[in-house]
Amino acid sequence: MIDTDKRHHVVTIDVNGVRRAASVEARKLLVHWLRDDLGLTGTHVGCDTSQCGACTVDIDGQAVKSCTILAVMADGSRITTIEGLVPGGGALHPVQAAFHEHHALQCGFCTPGMIMAVRQLLEQNPHPTESEIRHGLAGNICRCTGYNNIVRAVESLSLEAHRHD
Ligand code: FES
Ligand code: FES
Repeated sequence: MIDTDKRHHVVTIDVNGVRRAASVEARKLLVHWLRDDLGLTGTHVGCDTSQCGACTVDIDGQAVKSCTILAVMADGSRITTIEGLVPGGGALHPVQAAFHEHHALQCGFCTPGMIMAVRQLLEQNPHPTESEIRHGLAGNICRCTGYNNIVRAVESLSLEAHRHD
Protein backbone atom coordinates (compact mmCIF):
# COMPACT_ATOMS: atom_id res chain seq x y z
CA MET A 1 0.00 0.00 0.00
CA ILE A 2 1.38 3.45 -0.92
CA ASP A 3 1.41 6.13 1.77
CA THR A 4 0.21 9.63 0.95
CA ASP A 5 3.61 11.21 0.32
CA LYS A 6 4.56 8.48 -2.20
CA ARG A 7 8.03 8.11 -0.68
CA HIS A 8 6.74 5.76 1.98
CA HIS A 9 4.99 2.43 1.73
CA VAL A 10 2.99 0.66 4.38
CA VAL A 11 4.31 -2.84 4.96
CA THR A 12 3.24 -5.69 7.18
CA ILE A 13 6.06 -8.03 8.10
CA ASP A 14 6.27 -10.75 10.74
CA VAL A 15 9.56 -10.27 12.57
CA ASN A 16 10.53 -12.89 15.13
CA GLY A 17 6.89 -13.85 15.58
CA VAL A 18 5.63 -10.29 16.01
CA ARG A 19 3.49 -8.74 13.28
CA ARG A 20 4.86 -5.32 12.39
CA ALA A 21 2.83 -2.84 10.37
CA ALA A 22 4.90 0.19 9.46
CA SER A 23 5.27 3.03 7.04
CA VAL A 24 8.70 2.59 5.46
CA GLU A 25 10.70 4.91 3.28
CA ALA A 26 10.82 3.40 -0.21
CA ARG A 27 14.62 3.55 -0.40
CA LYS A 28 15.31 2.03 3.03
CA LEU A 29 17.23 -1.23 3.01
CA LEU A 30 15.81 -4.08 5.06
CA VAL A 31 18.91 -4.19 7.28
CA HIS A 32 18.45 -0.54 8.21
CA TRP A 33 14.77 -1.04 8.94
CA LEU A 34 15.58 -3.96 11.24
CA ARG A 35 18.39 -2.14 13.03
CA ASP A 36 17.25 1.49 13.09
CA ASP A 37 13.46 1.20 13.22
CA LEU A 38 13.03 -2.05 15.17
CA GLY A 39 16.23 -1.87 17.25
CA LEU A 40 17.28 -5.38 16.21
CA THR A 41 20.98 -4.54 16.15
CA GLY A 42 22.14 -8.15 16.24
CA THR A 43 21.94 -8.01 12.45
CA HIS A 44 25.18 -6.29 11.51
CA VAL A 45 26.40 -4.15 8.62
CA GLY A 46 29.94 -5.10 7.69
CA CYS A 47 30.32 -3.78 4.16
CA ASP A 48 28.62 -1.75 1.48
CA THR A 49 29.22 -4.24 -1.30
CA SER A 50 26.88 -7.13 -0.30
CA GLN A 51 29.85 -9.39 0.31
CA CYS A 52 30.35 -9.91 4.05
CA GLY A 53 27.12 -11.65 5.07
CA ALA A 54 27.03 -10.02 8.52
CA CYS A 55 23.50 -8.86 7.74
CA THR A 56 22.10 -12.34 7.00
CA VAL A 57 18.57 -13.03 8.22
CA ASP A 58 15.99 -15.69 7.45
CA ILE A 59 13.18 -14.60 5.15
CA ASP A 60 10.49 -17.21 4.59
CA GLY A 61 12.99 -20.00 5.19
CA GLN A 62 15.81 -18.58 3.07
CA ALA A 63 19.02 -17.05 4.39
CA VAL A 64 19.14 -13.60 2.78
CA LYS A 65 21.63 -10.75 3.07
CA SER A 66 19.32 -8.06 4.35
CA CYS A 67 21.42 -5.29 2.82
CA THR A 68 20.56 -6.59 -0.63
CA ILE A 69 16.83 -5.91 -0.51
CA LEU A 70 14.61 -2.99 0.31
CA ALA A 71 12.36 -3.23 3.35
CA VAL A 72 9.31 -2.77 1.12
CA MET A 73 10.33 -5.89 -0.81
CA ALA A 74 9.86 -7.91 2.38
CA ASP A 75 6.21 -6.88 2.67
CA GLY A 76 4.11 -9.90 3.67
CA SER A 77 7.09 -12.03 4.61
CA ARG A 78 8.14 -13.79 7.80
CA ILE A 79 11.59 -12.80 9.04
CA THR A 80 13.75 -14.35 11.73
CA THR A 81 16.78 -12.44 12.97
CA ILE A 82 19.44 -13.63 15.38
CA GLU A 83 17.34 -12.25 18.24
CA GLY A 84 14.44 -14.53 17.28
CA LEU A 85 16.44 -17.70 16.78
CA VAL A 86 15.24 -19.20 20.05
CA PRO A 87 11.63 -18.22 20.69
CA GLY A 88 11.35 -16.87 24.21
CA GLY A 89 15.13 -16.53 24.53
CA GLY A 90 17.01 -18.27 27.31
CA ALA A 91 18.80 -21.33 25.95
CA LEU A 92 21.19 -21.11 23.05
CA HIS A 93 20.21 -22.40 19.64
CA PRO A 94 22.25 -25.56 18.80
CA VAL A 95 24.31 -23.60 16.24
CA GLN A 96 25.08 -20.92 18.84
CA ALA A 97 26.01 -23.59 21.37
CA ALA A 98 28.35 -25.28 18.86
CA PHE A 99 30.04 -21.94 18.10
CA HIS A 100 30.51 -21.39 21.82
CA GLU A 101 31.88 -24.88 22.41
CA HIS A 102 34.32 -24.81 19.49
CA HIS A 103 35.48 -21.20 19.93
CA ALA A 104 34.14 -20.35 16.50
CA LEU A 105 34.23 -16.61 17.13
CA GLN A 106 36.59 -13.94 18.32
CA CYS A 107 35.27 -10.39 17.93
CA GLY A 108 31.82 -11.79 17.13
CA PHE A 109 31.00 -9.25 14.44
CA CYS A 110 30.38 -11.85 11.74
CA THR A 111 28.75 -14.31 14.13
CA PRO A 112 25.03 -13.46 13.85
CA GLY A 113 25.12 -13.63 10.06
CA MET A 114 27.35 -16.69 10.15
CA ILE A 115 24.93 -18.49 12.47
CA MET A 116 21.95 -17.66 10.27
CA ALA A 117 23.86 -18.99 7.26
CA VAL A 118 24.93 -22.18 9.08
CA ARG A 119 21.37 -22.78 10.14
CA GLN A 120 20.23 -22.75 6.53
CA LEU A 121 23.23 -24.78 5.36
CA LEU A 122 22.36 -27.58 7.80
CA GLU A 123 18.69 -27.46 6.92
CA GLN A 124 19.56 -28.03 3.29
CA ASN A 125 22.38 -30.50 3.96
CA PRO A 126 22.46 -31.99 7.49
CA HIS A 127 25.76 -33.79 6.85
CA PRO A 128 28.00 -31.46 4.88
CA THR A 129 31.60 -32.34 4.14
CA GLU A 130 34.31 -29.87 5.07
CA SER A 131 34.43 -28.55 1.51
CA GLU A 132 30.63 -28.27 1.43
CA ILE A 133 30.76 -26.27 4.67
CA ARG A 134 33.43 -23.95 3.32
CA HIS A 135 31.54 -23.56 0.04
CA GLY A 136 28.22 -23.06 1.84
CA LEU A 137 29.66 -20.27 4.00
CA ALA A 138 31.59 -18.57 1.20
CA GLY A 139 29.19 -15.64 1.32
CA ASN A 140 30.03 -14.91 4.96
CA ILE A 141 33.35 -13.29 5.73
CA CYS A 142 35.14 -13.66 9.07
CA ARG A 143 38.17 -11.48 9.63
CA CYS A 144 39.29 -13.14 12.87
CA THR A 145 39.03 -16.89 13.11
CA GLY A 146 40.60 -18.23 9.94
CA TYR A 147 37.37 -20.27 9.60
CA ASN A 148 38.80 -23.51 10.99
CA ASN A 149 36.88 -23.42 14.25
CA ILE A 150 33.73 -22.39 12.43
CA VAL A 151 34.09 -25.46 10.21
CA ARG A 152 34.68 -27.61 13.32
CA ALA A 153 31.54 -26.23 14.95
CA VAL A 154 29.46 -27.06 11.88
CA GLU A 155 31.05 -30.51 11.62
CA SER A 156 30.09 -31.17 15.25
CA LEU A 157 26.48 -30.38 14.40
CA SER A 158 26.70 -32.70 11.42
CA LEU A 159 27.98 -35.49 13.69
CA GLU A 160 25.21 -34.74 16.15
CA ALA A 161 22.67 -35.09 13.33
CA HIS A 162 24.22 -38.44 12.38
CA ARG A 163 23.72 -39.67 15.96
CA HIS A 164 20.02 -38.90 15.68
CA ASP A 165 19.57 -40.53 12.25
S1 FES B 1 26.36 -5.78 5.20
FE1 FES B 1 25.21 -7.12 3.96
S2 FES B 1 26.69 -8.33 2.95
FE2 FES B 1 27.87 -6.95 4.15
S1 FES C 1 34.81 -13.40 14.75
FE1 FES C 1 35.53 -11.43 14.16
S2 FES C 1 34.85 -11.23 12.12
FE2 FES C 1 34.37 -13.28 12.62
